[in-house]
Amino acid sequence: MSAIPFYKWFVGGKTNIALNAVDRHVKTWRRNKLAIIWEGENGEKRTYSYWRLYQEVNKFANVLRSMGVRKGDTVTIYMGRTPEIVIAMLACAKIGAPHSVVYGGFSDQALADRIADAKSKVVVTSDGSWLRGKIVPLKNVVDEAVQRSPVVQSVIVYKRTGQEINMEQGRDYWWHELMALPIASNKCETEVMDAEDPLFILYTSGTTGKPKGILHTHGGYQVYTSTTLEWVFDLKDEDRWWCAADPGWITGHSYIVYAPLILGATSFIYEGAPTYPYPDRWWRLVEEYGITVLYTAPTAIRGLMRFGDAWPARHDLSSLRLLGSVGEPINPEAWKWFYKVIGGERCPIMDTWWQTETGGFVITPLPSVPLKPGSATRPFPGQVVDVVDEHGNSCEAGVEGKLVIKRPWPSMLRTVWGDPDRYIKQYWTDYAQQGWYLAGDSARKDADGYIWVIGRIDDVIKVSGYRLGTAEIESGLVSYRDVAEAAVIAVPDELKGSVIYAYCILNAGSTGSDELEKAIKKHIREEVGPIAVPEKIEFVTTLPKTRSGKIMRRVLKARAQGLPEGDLSTLED
Ligand code: WTA
Repeated sequence: MSAIPFYKWFVGGKTNIALNAVDRHVKTWRRNKLAIIWEGENGEKRTYSYWRLYQEVNKFANVLRSMGVRKGDTVTIYMGRTPEIVIAMLACAKIGAPHSVVYGGFSDQALADRIADAKSKVVVTSDGSWLRGKIVPLKNVVDEAVQRSPVVQSVIVYKRTGQEINMEQGRDYWWHELMALPIASNKCETEVMDAEDPLFILYTSGTTGKPKGILHTHGGYQVYTSTTLEWVFDLKDEDRWWCAADPGWITGHSYIVYAPLILGATSFIYEGAPTYPYPDRWWRLVEEYGITVLYTAPTAIRGLMRFGDAWPARHDLSSLRLLGSVGEPINPEAWKWFYKVIGGERCPIMDTWWQTETGGFVITPLPSVPLKPGSATRPFPGQVVDVVDEHGNSCEAGVEGKLVIKRPWPSMLRTVWGDPDRYIKQYWTDYAQQGWYLAGDSARKDADGYIWVIGRIDDVIKVSGYRLGTAEIESGLVSYRDVAEAAVIAVPDELKGSVIYAYCILNAGSTGSDELEKAIKKHIREEVGPIAVPEKIEFVTTLPKTRSGKIMRRVLKARAQGLPEGDLSTLED
């Protein structure tokens, strides 16, 4: 019944992820258990029991309905890391409105593109968010984006920072005012959803400029995310789980919001920067809240490691029993530091390989599996993963090849929003005959069958664990008036994993200078977002291209690192 690659799971099943994440718990003793513990960067603290979360979700779901949001309508969410983003996401799920969360580090242009693609009538945001002691002006960005988005009718603004902002009459509404109205009743029917109904769209970078809206559904996604969290991190009722990601990325969707709540766990959320006001902020939080399982990214570990062992040593970290890593291969040095200094040589590190597209962990140890620093070990039970050559033959141990997933799984993406052809082309074309999913990563197996992920084989760059497409950054560069052509590459970096180098050919009449470099960087910050700003911009007069006009990034990469340039036979000039 499900044609490759448009797989379906639990066909005919009726459910709603919000029912299993929230409603279900208030009928048990868990109604009084803490669902969320939150600390703001400015020290503010809040807790939500399952009962309180249930009521807040119901109230906000009623608010959304009163704004005209119906089953099937998309809602765009652009907020900082406060409990309200969780409430907004769950409220959308509850009424069957797919959410599209856009990470708060994206610019107004990127936000406008995503609003337009998802056709959201309603945007939920906050006035700002605290980061490194400063306000990230989220509402200003929304104002700019909404000006370019005629589909948007209403904007709901949660007051977090309290600075002066623009509120447009008849379009912008304060969250707290709406939540105080009689329509915001604390009772709300949970929409009955089909297992295959859309739960959310999450935009992610691919090989072309336009971001892809990855679609996940109510049924398979809840089953797979909760099972993986329970098995890999062995979550129990007495745990205090901290997934230190941002809800704006898949890690936050799956393992801050949905999976922990489905399991009835207690989740800790911290708003701000790990080093604010001092580099021991995280370690103080672990101690103060008695965190038992900490799940983070190699870039964060490296960032904290460089401040030395004295900061964590000031804190009692003995509550920790398991650690986790995600986002990029973890370098053994960071692994060892995390293991020794943070985990006290007591806590196994679950290095989980997965993607926005996979919804949940695919290659990962379980707590009892012998670990090798830098390897995510083996596939999760039920997953059939392999490293293959271009003909689809399994690679021998030690030989680099492409990572494929050979069987469908419940939380796999269902399509690219509004673009099924792109879904097929991107993921299911290289091994169409075999019907395998192409992950876009290269990897190696070892003699024990452990998988060592090397990195992306396409034009996707991971900067501090964030996923960016070269094409997005390049179109941002050429939209600057002086730039005629541009190419960007990833260069390895000790702290961030990789950084972006940009090569620009200028228009006739423009000359490269430090000022111009600064101006272009500022432009990228505004066009794409702060995470996309190149570390270095070099002004060049030509770019290495194939005869068919494709930029040879590998040549630029080799040059940037002073390595041999390899086979240049296809080079045009
Ligand atoms: C990379 C993040 C090595 C990989 C959940 C993948 C990893 C991309 C690991 C997906 C890991 C993620 N070891 N590489 N443990 N985890 N990656 O969609 O290249 O933001 O394809 O999802 O991150 O990034 P995404």
